[in-house]
Amino acid sequence: PQKVIAIDGPSASGKGTVAQRVAEALGWAYLDSGALYRITALHARRRGADWADEAAVAALAQALPAEFAAGAVLLDGEDVSAAIRSEEIGMGASQVAALPAVREALLQRQRAFLGEQGLVADGRDMGSVVFPDAVLKIFLTAGAKVRAERRARQIGEPLSGERFERILAAIEARDEADRKRAVAPLQKLPEARLLDTSALTIEESVKKVLDWYRE
Ligand code: C5P
Repeated sequence: PQKVIAIDGPSASGKGTVAQRVAEALGWAYLDSGALYRITALHARRRGADWADEAAVAALAQALPAEFAAGAVLLDGEDVSAAIRSEEIGMGASQVAALPAVREALLQRQRAFLGEQGLVADGRDMGSVVFPDAVLKIFLTAGAKVRAERRARQIGEPLSGERFERILAAIEARDEADRKRAVAPLQKLPEARLLDTSALTIEESVKKVLDWYRE
């Protein structure tokens, strides 16, 4: 098996935070594959390419001038860590991620994150496509309402009311799109362990993953 822990799951499930902490605990590298799709969407927008134009977006993804440096995400040398986190760019990422040529263009780049020390990879198709021989595969999820609350806290929005309902609706719409698409649909693989973090703290979730890895 590959020295990879693949953590797949829906948006705002907390998988990014859990994956980063697990990587820290093991001294492994961390891959935020969603960030690559987000950067691709932002790059396409800035270059005036339509998110539905498969050939144009794939060409941009193939030569993506992106770097991950000290926790920051750089595009053309500019820190875009905050810019790629908007729900609009999230939706754009979901759109470009449905194009097979775009996924193909980003495949080797994702695999290159695996070095000697091992890798914790977070996304939608880490266990199915990018690292099918991962030593441990996890489907990390939480109830939609819990995920909307986590997202709201993250971006400083209220936990009830109309603005909250809009966050919840956006999360559900993106998950629905990710589940229904023909390529790399969001799904739990039969061999993946299910980790529902609805009632777990980050520490408890991290411990669960480490326990499974050490089993
Ligand atoms: O995880 P995150 O919300 O950053 O991902 C943004 C979008 O990128 C997702 O909605 C999904 O459509 C896409 N994605 C993907 N495959 C991955 C990671 C993200 O298709 N491995």
